[in-house]
Amino acid sequence: MAIIDTSTRGTIAPLVAPPVSLHDSRHAPRRGSFDTDVAILGLGYVGLPTALAYQAAGSSVLGIDISAGRLGDIRAGAVDLIPRDRERLHEALGAETIELTGDLSQLSRARAVVVCVPTPVDRYLVPDLTMLRAACAAVVDHAVPGQLLMLTSTTYVGCTADMLLDPITRKGMVAGRDIFIAFSAERIDPGQESVSQEAVPRVVGGASAACVGRAAEVLGAYAHEVHPVPSLGTAEMTKLLENTFRAVNIALVNEFADICRTLDIEVMDVIEAAATKPYGYMPFTPSAGVGGHCIPCDPHYLLWQLRKDRVEAPMIGQAMQSIANRPTHVVERIRELLSERGRSLTGSRVLVSGVAYKPGVADLRESPALEIMQRLRALGASVGYVDPHIPRLMLDGVEMRPVQNPATFHPTLVLLHTAHPEASLDWIRPDQLVLDATYRATGITNRVTL
Ligand SMILES: NC(=O)c1ccc[n+]([C@@H]2O[C@H](COP(=O)([O-])OP(=O)(O)OC[C@H]3O[C@@H](n4cnc5c(N)ncnc54)[C@H](O)[C@@H]3O)[C@@H](O)[C@H]2O)c1
Repeated sequence: MAIIDTSTRGTIAPLVAPPVSLHDSRHAPRRGSFDTDVAILGLGYVGLPTALAYQAAGSSVLGIDISAGRLGDIRAGAVDLIPRDRERLHEALGAETIELTGDLSQLSRARAVVVCVPTPVDRYLVPDLTMLRAACAAVVDHAVPGQLLMLTSTTYVGCTADMLLDPITRKGMVAGRDIFIAFSAERIDPGQESVSQEAVPRVVGGASAACVGRAAEVLGAYAHEVHPVPSLGTAEMTKLLENTFRAVNIALVNEFADICRTLDIEVMDVIEAAATKPYGYMPFTPSAGVGGHCIPCDPHYLLWQLRKDRVEAPMIGQAMQSIANRPTHVVERIRELLSERGRSLTGSRVLVSGVAYKPGVADLRESPALEIMQRLRALGASVGYVDPHIPRLMLDGVEMRPVQNPATFHPTLVLLHTAHPEASLDWIRPDQLVLDATYRATGITNRVTL
């Protein structure tokens, strides 16, 4: 574990220390009677792999979730995980090295509590802190001296102080002495196998130096590298910078894709060529829009909190607006392509290939495909979809199932929305009109890009 000693900031010296075991009682205050190393509160796309990473590293783990359905799915192994984590889950369930419960009072059994609940935005793009507030209130209620309370959900700057530090102080405990409070955003990329969760460095800020040290030990149980920062706010802001950076660059590359189409240049050739530069450039890929629980939401946490101080962030605001408009742009492009062929959307049949928000996952949250299909339907088109990861979905309150045989759907147009690695496009006939929003299906004859 490489730890950067914050006490020497300015002359930052990476310290190389052996991994610290959570079982090593020399490093943990033993004022509570803990029988578990770590409790993960919220076992979703992020919390479950985190729980599995801890148990694989030898920690005893308590997984807590308020959703009985989610706990049942985990127990049955019916959850969306990469193969390595699926194997870990199988082993953990077999060997009973993870205890699963919906009982929040169990939190006080764990030496470290990791909060990993959703932080979405509502339909007005305002942060919805309901779940985070409830989770933090439970953590504070059940907090016992000696625990580390660590928030890992993405959130606004000041949130850890508002929801953990201040209430704990009001309970009469002193952070850094009686109890430890830290923020370390989870940086996992669900569905992505090339970089392991252990290999992603963790940035951590604490309510005091002792809190950072304790959090670094707990994170170091599985993370190979921990990067301490001077404050809780610095750690919270770091995550907002990471995801805002992505949002702005996605908006930019989408704009470049539109410009390239106007100038009759293949944008992917340009991106590939630019990516040969060994510094100062990072490739982003244009698409039908962004989905998932991060990019469409996180920058709004920043924009929202800036409103209080009447501060504007025009570049971020513009990027988020452009991202939000992308599905409408896709529908307009479909309308344009049909119109060029003397067709209207009304009565046309559009087949969407891949509806998950990104390749390799069964995650539909904020997927642009949903808005695109809703809009197409509202404009009179018949809509179907194919996606090996999504056996059903709800559209305008009605269940939809994938088209069994894409050829017999007789699409007027096929929209390539998400390219899952294992999904074949062999069923596409040479004369089939295809709108390629993945920008990658170069082998298809009658293909146009978004
Ligand atoms: N999904 C990603 O790609 C990703 C990546 C990095 C960070 N994050 C951040 O991680 C956090 C969690 O995201 P996620 O994608 O895992 O969410 P998720 O929706 O997949 O899962 C969250 C889980 O928390 C549970 N939950 C909700 N309220 C609870 C409560 N009060 N107590 C206990 N459990 C509760 C839900 O039942 C659900 O199972 C968010 O802040 C998100 O921004 C997400």
